[in-house]
Amino acid sequence: MSSLFDLSGKIALVTGASRGIGKALAVGLAEHGADVVLVARTKEALDRTAVEVEAHGRRTWVKPFDLAHVPQIPEFYRSVVEETGGVDILVNVAGIQRRALALDLTLEDWNEVLELNLSAVFVLCQAFARERIGSGKPGRIINIGSLMCEGHRPTTVAYTASKGGIRQLTKALAVEWARYDIRVNAVAPGYIATEMTQPLRDNPELDDWVRRRAPMGRWGEPRELVGAVVFLASEASSYVTGHILYVDGGWLANL
Ligand SMILES: NC(=O)c1ccc[n+]([C@@H]2O[C@H](COP(=O)([O-])OP(=O)(O)OC[C@H]3O[C@@H](n4cnc5c(N)ncnc54)[C@H](OP(=O)(O)O)[C@@H]3O)[C@@H](O)[C@H]2O)c1
Repeated sequence: MSSLFDLSGKIALVTGASRGIGKALAVGLAEHGADVVLVARTKEALDRTAVEVEAHGRRTWVKPFDLAHVPQIPEFYRSVVEETGGVDILVNVAGIQRRALALDLTLEDWNEVLELNLSAVFVLCQAFARERIGSGKPGRIINIGSLMCEGHRPTTVAYTASKGGIRQLTKALAVEWARYDIRVNAVAPGYIATEMTQPLRDNPELDDWVRRRAPMGRWGEPRELVGAVVFLASEASSYVTGHILYVDGGWLANL
């Protein structure tokens, strides 16, 4: 393995690690040498991810937690630091979708999406950065964006607002924290085959639309995001911060 991409000796915390993209990233980071803290609500599913991570000879800490409880995140993060001694790489993956046209979306659904997809990410980044700065150590943050960092598809208004927020939050934190050697970037996936997108894949019209619109002619797989995240977590990206890296099969390039 090239040392540029080697994460040996590093600890990564991955939210949303119970399935889909977060699970693939947790295993992928372990393949590149990182020990991994696994966060989501469902302990049994996190335990299954832990088995896959440990198969690569890496350590895991299974930390079930509901990130929608935003005010409790700092206390939760303190417990992570106590157990691990400190996290080097924070990967914010947990996210939800609530589908409705803008005229119909309830305030409850709007708040739920914004709380988890944006507020929880901000507060976790803050807890991470405070610990890193306090201990004089560098940090790497990778947020998961979306094509909705750039545009919108009707029925995803809260999600689009949250991912637009992730784009700007990533830039804001990168600018403020570069002086502490905390690099903040985002990986923005195109359409990836996971539980979140199952309703789209179950609808033949939408499934066909995704395949026709993506120049590569197919859905992405969660594992295809690993390379971008390892790049941004490692020395290979030592002069990259505030960047939104699209992994979308050419989607955004396609007019
Ligand atoms: N799939 C795509 O096409 C796509 C495209 C662009 C961006 N993304 C983004 O990628 C991320 C992951 O998406 P995915 O497709 O992998 O979704 P997914 O399969 O639905 O997984 C979502 C993850 O978030 C966790 N989660 C949900 N609510 C949580 C909460 N309140 N507290 C803690 N964890 C919570 C879930 O675990 P528990 O249920 O166990 O808590 C699960 O691990 C999201 O941010 C999504 O916006 C996905």
